[in-house]
Amino acid sequence: MTSYVVALEKDVRPNSIVRSMMGDTPLVIWRGSSGAIHVWLDCCPHRSVRLSAGRNMGDYLEGVYHGWRFDETGLVTLVPALQGRPSEDIRATVYSTALADGFVWASDDACTPAESAGEPCYPVHIAAPIDQVRQQVDTAVDHLTPWGTQETMVYPTGNPEQRRAELSAIRLRLEES
Ligand code: FES
Repeated sequence: MTSYVVALEKDVRPNSIVRSMMGDTPLVIWRGSSGAIHVWLDCCPHRSVRLSAGRNMGDYLEGVYHGWRFDETGLVTLVPALQGRPSEDIRATVYSTALADGFVWASDDACTPAESAGEPCYPVHIAAPIDQVRQQVDTAVDHLTPWGTQETMVYPTGNPEQRRAELSAIRLRLEES
């Protein structure tokens, strides 16, 4: 199990919904009224619409399409068409999540949130648009994760130490220009 930085903690504000990626996996990240930050697969278990298109209602996330209600554990607690909860437990796909060093970390295993975040894999965060970063990064770095519109998260591939050093140099160049 490997853990990835998937958001800056400060960006996950109350009542907001943040989109991110973990490799090729789309994520929805939201902070509940309990203060906990949740990292889930950005896919509704009903008809696969992005959960990030829904609403953060504080103690639950509401699906945009049919209004399914997901509590902070990912459990569906209300299906409006049924006027109640489903007869079986239905859940969003929840990833193991931890907060450290101002980052939100998630592991690539779907599991209960309380489990260990695992071995860390540090991406390089560059405060520059993805297009500018792509121009600077050679094709050997094939794992680029767009981060909003103005910032970029790059997961080093190949030799992680060497890649991190190269990407850090690019970051300095772009952020100081
Ligand atoms: S697709 Fe999510 S509520 Fe129906």
